[in-house]
Amino acid sequence: MKVLITGGAGFIGQRTGQLLLKQGHQVTVLDNLSPPAHDRPPALPAGMELVEGDVRKREDWVKALKENEVVLHLADHHDYLPAFSKLFHVNAVGTAILFELLLEGKTAVRRVVLASTMAVYGEGKYRCGKDGDVYPQPRRVDALERGVWDPPCPICGGAVTPMVTDESVARPTSAYGLSKLAQEELVRLLGERHGIEWVILRYGAVQGRAQPFQNAYYGALRIFALRLAHHQPPVLLEDGNQLRDFVDVDDVARANLAALGELPTGAYNVASGRAHTVIDLARTLLRAADSELTPETPGRYRVGDARHAVPDVSRLKATGWDAQSGLEAMAREYWQWLQEQPNLDTYFEGAEYLMERTGTVRVAR
Ligand SMILES: NC(=O)c1ccc[n+]([C@@H]2O[C@H](COP(=O)([O-])OP(=O)(O)OC[C@H]3O[C@@H](n4cnc5c(N)ncnc54)[C@H](O)[C@@H]3O)[C@@H](O)[C@H]2O)c1
Repeated sequence: MKVLITGGAGFIGQRTGQLLLKQGHQVTVLDNLSPPAHDRPPALPAGMELVEGDVRKREDWVKALKENEVVLHLADHHDYLPAFSKLFHVNAVGTAILFELLLEGKTAVRRVVLASTMAVYGEGKYRCGKDGDVYPQPRRVDALERGVWDPPCPICGGAVTPMVTDESVARPTSAYGLSKLAQEELVRLLGERHGIEWVILRYGAVQGRAQPFQNAYYGALRIFALRLAHHQPPVLLEDGNQLRDFVDVDDVARANLAALGELPTGAYNVASGRAHTVIDLARTLLRAADSELTPETPGRYRVGDARHAVPDVSRLKATGWDAQSGLEAMAREYWQWLQEQPNLDTYFEGAEYLMERTGTVRVAR
């Protein structure tokens, strides 16, 4: 296959590109090498052709599309800072430009695989004893300010229990999630209408060796490990009992390969199928690092975060894919890798300061 990976110089893109090359495929990368993911030119694996360009620029897409038959669209803007318009420019407009070019019929592309996220589910699915399955509204800032972390039932206001969320209902609670859903809807609508095969992959919290520590806005393992490398304890948002599904980047790369090949058109959750609390992750890392430190929960929260994000992975598993790595191995490998990196510096403090200054991270009263 001739594959174009947008954002292929990033964390998931490099791993997927390596796997594709190993299996004898040809890989072109379209990436603008933008900060914070890149603070210096990356050393791309040998064999990947880099087109340095921006998905917001038509001419850069033209240079990169060439003879490629399938596109893995990973490039996106993702952070928690209030750069709302950039989220839509890169994510939605960039994808719209790709489809404009595909419809002109001058490319060889027959399939588009889009990287999406659990953020499209917002608070996701819960069960209420009285009202059955419900999808809570975004959590109110006044409740978070009081340290009330769990969302109420949107019908009766009572307590609800988190459930695994399947692919059927997407209701984002952040501008980022909305921009990814806009991107998804473009791929689905235009792909369906114009006979271009499409697959949407909604990743859980992707972790693993080589996750760049330059971008400390998200990625709990990287944030905790970076603090630990500076002899500081992990500081957890909320009370640390948020449920997440941490999935290894190599498992995600294998799912990407399946999607580029024969996976039937549709949207699929890509995650390990095992839910862990964030405090579990922190403790697992502390064990891996043989550290005496303990996690701290000063009541900080991030506006727009979902309380729990627990994907149902049965649709993807039914196609034969399964996650192979677990939490212990991910934490151990990441800690080992981080310690081998030169010049670990203060990226973490920079990101933390910026998120507090812009009101993205706040402290409950
Ligand atoms: N890492 C995760 O936990 C996670 C979770 C859910 C979804 N995803 C999705 O996976 C995809 C890849 O994520 P990642 O973790 O590899 O991120 P990353 O930041 O490591 O890589 C993204 C790459 O996109 C490039 N890029 C950014 N803006 C661009 C633009 N305008 N034009 C061209 N290139 C641009 C960056 O330079 C970078 O190399 C994203 O679409 C993201 O939404 C990631």
